[in-house]
Amino acid sequence: MTILVLGGAGYIGSHTVYELIDNGEDVVIIDNLLTGHKEAVHPKARFYQGDIRDREFLDKVFQKEKIDAVIHFAACSLVGESMEKPLKYYDNNLCGTKILLDSMVANGVDKIVFSSTAATYGEPEKVPILETDRTEPTNTYGETKLSMEKMFKWVGKAHGLRYVSLRYFNACGAHISGEIGEDHNPESHLIPLILQVPNGKREFISIFGDDYDTKDGTCVRDYIHVTDLAQAHILAVKYLQNGNESNIFNLGNGVGFTVKEVIDTARKVTSHPIPAKTTPRRAGDPAQLIASSEKARKILGWKPQHDSLEEIISTAWKWHKNHPNGFN
Ligand code: UFG
Repeated sequence: MTILVLGGAGYIGSHTVYELIDNGEDVVIIDNLLTGHKEAVHPKARFYQGDIRDREFLDKVFQKEKIDAVIHFAACSLVGESMEKPLKYYDNNLCGTKILLDSMVANGVDKIVFSSTAATYGEPEKVPILETDRTEPTNTYGETKLSMEKMFKWVGKAHGLRYVSLRYFNACGAHISGEIGEDHNPESHLIPLILQVPNGKREFISIFGDDYDTKDGTCVRDYIHVTDLAQAHILAVKYLQNGNESNIFNLGNGVGFTVKEVIDTARKVTSHPIPAKTTPRRAGDPAQLIASSEKARKILGWKPQHDSLEEIISTAWKWHKNHPNGFN
C-alpha cells in the first residue's frame, strides 16, 4: 500500500512517516519546505518538493505513484499569525485543500486522513470535550480547519470520498530515537520554549496569565505525544481501508496539566531551575482544553503509549538538548 503524506517534512507529518515506515508501508511525501525541514524527511520515503496549490504538480505525483490513501498535514498552523494574516490561512489551508480535492477526485483517490485541531471548538462549554460539542473557533486557524472538515463532508457526498478528521489537542514530545523533533520558526509552543531555558537560549519562561479559573490560576491543556498522534493516523488509514464511513475523532490523553505543572515537570527532567515570570494573558487562550478521546479508543482502537508528562518532556528534551538550533 502506498500512502501520500502531504506536509511529511513537518513536525507531526515527519513523525507519522517514521511510524508508517516502521509499519512496513510505502510512503510518498509532498512538502513545500516553507515550514518543514528537508532533514526530517525519512530516507526511505520518496520525496517531491512542491505545493498543494499547484494542481499540475499534484496531478503528476498522483499519476506517477499509485496512491491508496492521503494523509494531509500541509497547512499553516500558527494561531497568532492566523489572526494577523487571515487570508494567508484561507489561501494555504482552504484553497490548498480545494485544489488537492480536485486532483484526488480527478485521479480516483478516495481516502484521506486529515490533521484537524482542538481549535475547531473555540472556548469549550465544558471539559472533557466531545466530538459532538459546539464548534465555534475563536481564531482564523481553527476556522479554516473546521471549513476544511466541511469541505471533505460535501465532496464526500458528491464524489464518494471518505475522510477521517483527527482533532489534536496539544501535540508535543519527539521521536524516541532522538532523530527528529519539534522545530518551528518562530517557536510559540510551551514545551520547546521552556526547554530553551536549560539550553541557554532564553533566560526565563513567561507564564501567560495566572488568574484563570483553574487549580493554580494557569491554563490547563491536554498534552499528547507526537508518536501517539502518528499511531492514530495509521489506525485511521486502516479504518478507511476496511470500508468504514467518514468520521471525526479527538486525540488527547484526557488529562489536563497547568502551565505551572508543565514547567515543574521540565525542571525535574532537565535538573535546571528554569526561572519563570508571570506576564499578562495571551489573547484568545481558553482556560482549559481537555479531550475526551473515548471515541478514538473505542472505534479506532487507539491507545496512547506515552501518557506520562515526564516521559513526554524527556523525549522532547533528548531532541532539544542535542539540537539546540533545531534542524539547522
Ligand atoms: N504558554 C505560556 N507561555 C509561553 C507559551 C505558552 O504560558 O511562552 C501557555 C499558553 O498560554 C497556553 C499553554 O501554554 O495556555 C499552551 O500553549 P501552546 O502555545 O503550546 O499551545 P496552545 O494550547 O495555545 O495551542 C495548541 C496547538 C494549536 C491549536 C490550539 C487549540 O498548538 O495548534 O492548541 O487551541 F490550535
